[in-house]
Amino acid sequence: MEKAPRSLPVLGHLLILLRDPLGFVAGLSASGELAEIQFGPSSRLLMVCDPELTRQVLREDAIFDKGGPMVDRAREIAGDGLATCPHARHRRQRRLVQPAFHHDRLPGYAKAMSEEIVASIGRWRDGQVIDIPAEMLGITLRTSLKTMFSGSLAPRVLSQTMDDVVTMLRGVYWRAVLPSALSRLPTPGNYHYWRAQGRLQDTVYAVIAERRASPADRGDLLSALLAARDPESGEQSLSEAEIADQVRTFFLAGPETTADLIAWALYLVARHPDVGDRLRAEADSVLAGAPPGLEHVPRLELTGRVLEETLRLYPPIWMLTRVVTTDTELGGHRIPAGTPVLFSSYLQHHRGSAFEAPERFDPDRWDGGRKAPRGTFIPFGSGPRRCIGDQFGLTMATFTLAAVTASWHLQTLPGRRPPHPATALSLRPRGLRMRATTRARTAA
Ligand code: HEM
Repeated sequence: MEKAPRSLPVLGHLLILLRDPLGFVAGLSASGELAEIQFGPSSRLLMVCDPELTRQVLREDAIFDKGGPMVDRAREIAGDGLATCPHARHRRQRRLVQPAFHHDRLPGYAKAMSEEIVASIGRWRDGQVIDIPAEMLGITLRTSLKTMFSGSLAPRVLSQTMDDVVTMLRGVYWRAVLPSALSRLPTPGNYHYWRAQGRLQDTVYAVIAERRASPADRGDLLSALLAARDPESGEQSLSEAEIADQVRTFFLAGPETTADLIAWALYLVARHPDVGDRLRAEADSVLAGAPPGLEHVPRLELTGRVLEETLRLYPPIWMLTRVVTTDTELGGHRIPAGTPVLFSSYLQHHRGSAFEAPERFDPDRWDGGRKAPRGTFIPFGSGPRRCIGDQFGLTMATFTLAAVTASWHLQTLPGRRPPHPATALSLRPRGLRMRATTRARTAA
């Protein structure tokens, strides 16, 4: 197996991964099936470049199990929740959590999403310059809190909980990339993080206790988790600690990924006025002034394709890790137990052999339900650990994009450089600020 190009003596690929991680990873599509990546003098990882081998890694989750520094740090927040638990505990959890995402429950979540999105963008002022990633995270967080707890949090607790989730989302990435000793030092930043972690824990336990006292189904995610029953015994199956882990998992996995997807979509649409015109025409004719609802989604076709193309160009979860649990073989190479493995949706999505002009934003490449070659479009992963919240996230993104497009014209600021993709927990358009003008004024 070849070493990936652009390695330096001693440092290996550390510098290039810090300077240009996306360019480096996209370039690996020319590197054969597997490539070795070196982090500093002693750490070596295996990058899976081939789409079929990536599928194999994702399918064989007992051999290629959850692990690596990101997963270890994410466990600090999400404990043994669905996204971070090892294979041995995954199937049971997935069976128990699945009903929370059953399509029967989506209309209830959709109503809460629509109300929150319309209220949020209704607070914008004509001519306001908006920090788009932060604003979108605010919308998706408030929406997630509402779909998780319905009205159980008092306004003050709600706003504190939002701050705590943001502190933890920011903290988890830095704690994963910096040496772990630093994350144990008694610094103000670490205290801030620990306090947020403790408060979030207390809030979740308090809401669970309140729900146990009056257990009616409120149609939110928490009610579904509390109602999960073991199919054989019929007994309550998720312990209090397990429910709290799932709640934190959803906060870790859902709001930021969805916010970054919407933020990139708004940017790409603004940079492609032809698409923007068609998108506004679609939003006007389908929504016709109404708040977005599930009944509109099948007719918001271009909106769906814009999101699909945005997921291709800027997949929020752009790279992930696994750990090999037992000596195995991959693409004819022997891989010893303990090997850390990387795979990247960004690499697959920018593959010239799968997508014509892969850097071009072209929502019409998905026209008529056209599909990408197998294994080359994996924004939600694949196999047994595929995203459980894909429809939830896509519904939130579709509603937001359609509602914003129907009411506002968002433009990038003149003279500004394109936003830099920040490769944090999720791929964020760092520094993206846009001016919002009401549609009525634009037309005048
Ligand atoms: C655009 C939005 C989203 C994107 C791009 C996304 C992406 C992903 C990806 C790539 C994975 C697979 C991780 C792996 O293989 O290691 C995943 C898993 C997961 N996602 Fe999402 N996600 C999104 C929204 C959501 C939302 C809204 C929720 C919850 C409400 C959610 C909850 C989860 C959970 C619990 C898992 C773990 C599933 C398992 O291991 O069984 N995601 N997501």
